[in-house]
Amino acid sequence: MVVVAGSANLDFVVRAAHIPGPGETVLGGEFKTYPGGKGANQAAACARAGGVVTHMLAALGNDAYAAPIEASLAAAGVVLHAVRVADQATGTAFICVSDDAENAITVAPGANQGLVPAHLASTGLPPLASFSHLLMQLETPLATVAAYAHAAHALGVTVVLNAAPAQALPAELLADVDILIVNEGELAALAGPTGDLYAQLARIGVPTVVVTLGGRGCLARSGQQRLVQPAFPVKPVDTTGAGDTFCGALVAALSQSLTLAEALRQAIAAAALACTKMGAQSSIPTRAEVTDFLAKQTT
Ligand code: RIB
Repeated sequence: MVVVAGSANLDFVVRAAHIPGPGETVLGGEFKTYPGGKGANQAAACARAGGVVTHMLAALGNDAYAAPIEASLAAAGVVLHAVRVADQATGTAFICVSDDAENAITVAPGANQGLVPAHLASTGLPPLASFSHLLMQLETPLATVAAYAHAAHALGVTVVLNAAPAQALPAELLADVDILIVNEGELAALAGPTGDLYAQLARIGVPTVVVTLGGRGCLARSGQQRLVQPAFPVKPVDTTGAGDTFCGALVAALSQSLTLAEALRQAIAAAALACTKMGAQSSIPTRAEVTDFLAKQTT
């Protein structure tokens, strides 16, 4: 059983030929909202793509933005433990998706900032020790992430941190993390940009570090072991939430005692499928879809 603690946002999405640069206005296409937020996306992926019992601890506002997120998490099978933050709007994200499926995202964290250390024990969440893995990101306050990591680590719960969006992390937090998941930019921010990816991975003092490489797949270092998982080719429509799908599917697989190599393969497959549809949670495949997709791959 997995617990995800983190952000939940309503994503405001518009497609455009390209993502505007500073000072530029572009005329886009249709506007739509989708349930998102790195934490909620990862919880939905863990439950839906990974097929694992998943609880989520999140902070929402008392507004109309919360309902679609709650409905999406329920549809994915996530057991949500929601804190209500009276004076803040539910988190929102403003996303431009380009015709080549890339995106630019600005998050207004709102209620996500109201998730505090005390909520771990006050929301009806089952005891932390009953979970195999705790999965977190960096869209909620760093002090909360650090407190939850410390509590879980002390109980022997595997702590997984997706260090996104990039920010400096205190050594005390990293000491409580068992598995760190980053993209190339986040890895360079934490390890320093010098040297190749393996050199950067080696400089992170966490037992297992995974770096996602977009359309090239991912690399991992676990102790002295190095693993490479190439990407599976798909025609991308929208890459929003693909990294989150990777994180949720990876943790789900690890919680079912798959090896890291097997878990990386499942996660890369789930992330590839997530790129083929619009939206974050709306694009997460089912476990059956991941299994079917993998059965068709030759590598
Ligand atoms: O990783 C994608 C997510 O980042 C979006 O769903 C958006 O809400 C932001 O949190």
